[in-house]
Amino acid sequence: MTERCAPGKIILLGEHAVVYGRPAIAVPVQDVQACAVVQNVARSPGVTVCATELDCVYDVECALPDEPLCATVRYTLQRLGVRLRDVSLKVTIRSTIPVASGLGSGAAVAAAMARAIAAHLGTSLTDAEVSEIAYEVERIHHGTPSGIDNTVVSFGQPVYFRRGDPIQRLSVRSPSWLAIADTGVPSLTKLSVGDVRAGWQRDPKSYERLFDQIGVLVGRARPALEMGDMRTLGELATENQELLRALQVSSPEIERLAQAATDAGAFGAKLSGGGRGGNVIAVIDPSTRQRVRDALVAAGARRVIVTKVG
Ligand code: PMV
Repeated sequence: MTERCAPGKIILLGEHAVVYGRPAIAVPVQDVQACAVVQNVARSPGVTVCATELDCVYDVECALPDEPLCATVRYTLQRLGVRLRDVSLKVTIRSTIPVASGLGSGAAVAAAMARAIAAHLGTSLTDAEVSEIAYEVERIHHGTPSGIDNTVVSFGQPVYFRRGDPIQRLSVRSPSWLAIADTGVPSLTKLSVGDVRAGWQRDPKSYERLFDQIGVLVGRARPALEMGDMRTLGELATENQELLRALQVSSPEIERLAQAATDAGAFGAKLSGGGRGGNVIAVIDPSTRQRVRDALVAAGARRVIVTKVG
């Protein structure tokens, strides 16, 4: 039996604009994890995938080509040069990463599965190979992924990411603290990414300007994160939220939580990921963590994770 896990992630700044070639910063969230357990089974050849959280069982051979869990198995075996009929495995997935909430659940499950399958077969994949497999799976989840989710969960380190550029891993000298608050509204990244695309097609000039402005904020956030300058990071997060609102990916629930966090003393707050629901992140001073947490819960947050970055 072989188990491997991958962390959740949040996008600190730069979502949506990152799809259009601007930089973004994402960080792993170690407090939530997706894990895959691989076992040999004495049965006919093939791979069965059991996603306990979702309560379903797939037979990889029979599953539809765009079923993400089965696709992960196929991509991984292809990469390892192993044929499906030459193995007899059961893969069980357990995850504490909420789905459809901007915490990178899909990419983390794929990364954990790829690693666990490779290890169980007595080999290994590099972080870059795991990331490539998770990217292919992300394409099934939401069409035109930037590649940021798979990168950060596979490398497990804060990254400064720009599509097409080599990955820049960030070395954080002094940690920052975040509160991650779930609006309780599931958000399908594919839909908000599609709506932003439709807006961009209608009015490319305005959208390109917004993407540029977001890119500038990300450039300023990088040294702030590396140095643990949480005040600056928080201010940049709030500015980023204003631009995300202009892209029409915010929502009343997001606005309410972001406001509650800043009223309770957070340095700044924004949505994270696709938007319209999902999670709000607030940059906080650790001394205010309980106050911010209480304020977020009082404002309707379903769950609050307080985590240290770096
Ligand atoms: O909702 P998430 O955490 O998967 O993040 C999506 C981030 C976007 O920039 C909106 C899309 C992407 O592929 O980068």
